[in-house]
Amino acid sequence: MRAWVKSVQQRGQRIALVPTMGFLHEGHLSLMREGGRRADVVAASIFVNPTQFGPKEDLSTYPRDAEGDLARCGSAGVFGVYMPEPSAVYPPGYQTYVNVEEVSRGLDGEKRPGHFRGVATVVAKLLALFRPEVALFGEKDYQQLQVITRLAADLELGVEIVGMPTIREKDGLAMSSRNSYLSAEERVRALALSRGLFAAQHRAAAGERDVSKLVALIRTELEGVQAREDYVEIVDASRLTSLSTLEEGAPARALIAAFVGKTRLIDNMALQLG
Ligand code: PAF
Repeated sequence: MRAWVKSVQQRGQRIALVPTMGFLHEGHLSLMREGGRRADVVAASIFVNPTQFGPKEDLSTYPRDAEGDLARCGSAGVFGVYMPEPSAVYPPGYQTYVNVEEVSRGLDGEKRPGHFRGVATVVAKLLALFRPEVALFGEKDYQQLQVITRLAADLELGVEIVGMPTIREKDGLAMSSRNSYLSAEERVRALALSRGLFAAQHRAAAGERDVSKLVALIRTELEGVQAREDYVEIVDASRLTSLSTLEEGAPARALIAAFVGKTRLIDNMALQLG
């Protein structure tokens, strides 16, 4: 990979990198197409990164489709795909990890201890390997996007981190590789997440400042379908600190994690007052 990166850079071409864990959907492909608009060559990585999964999480069952993914990458204009084995990324004796402090703490950072340490480590390694001009990530993993933005700035990696809007199914469900775990009945119940977020977004746009009322709206939707809340929070959009009221000109974000059956789903939306 390093030799390939060198040859691209010697030709004066700029690389866009799209790191993924595979089982690609339209959300990933939108990142790849945008990469093609922002750089000369698009590269992707497909790596189910073991260090970002907790011991009781779905590492062994995470959906995979290498052949289909390669075809999808090709159709989205990706030039090269890096698909390493875990032992290539974490060889025997590996002992270096990256920890982004404040933005990693709450939300998924609290519920999935060690998750963002794993994400930051593998993304730092990928950025060091590819030395891209730009790297693209979905807003669907909103906290992850803030963690990676901080990581790139703090380590002065000279890469532009671009966040792209969540791509949704026609009925509102945020696209995710983990949606493949849902049964038909759970797939319908899962719509409560986006319904709750849209409801909060509309209520905030209509002038509701009180965060507890907006959170209650979201919880009502989750409870209506017996989705088990992991968290529902409304936070400052960049620092991810909790808010009690929305203020004009202060971007806020509503974030949810909830279990529908055994599947843990996350979703989030921007809230704009008035
Ligand atoms: O969002 C993902 O798919 C992963 O967390 C990432 C950024 C590829 C790191 O493994």
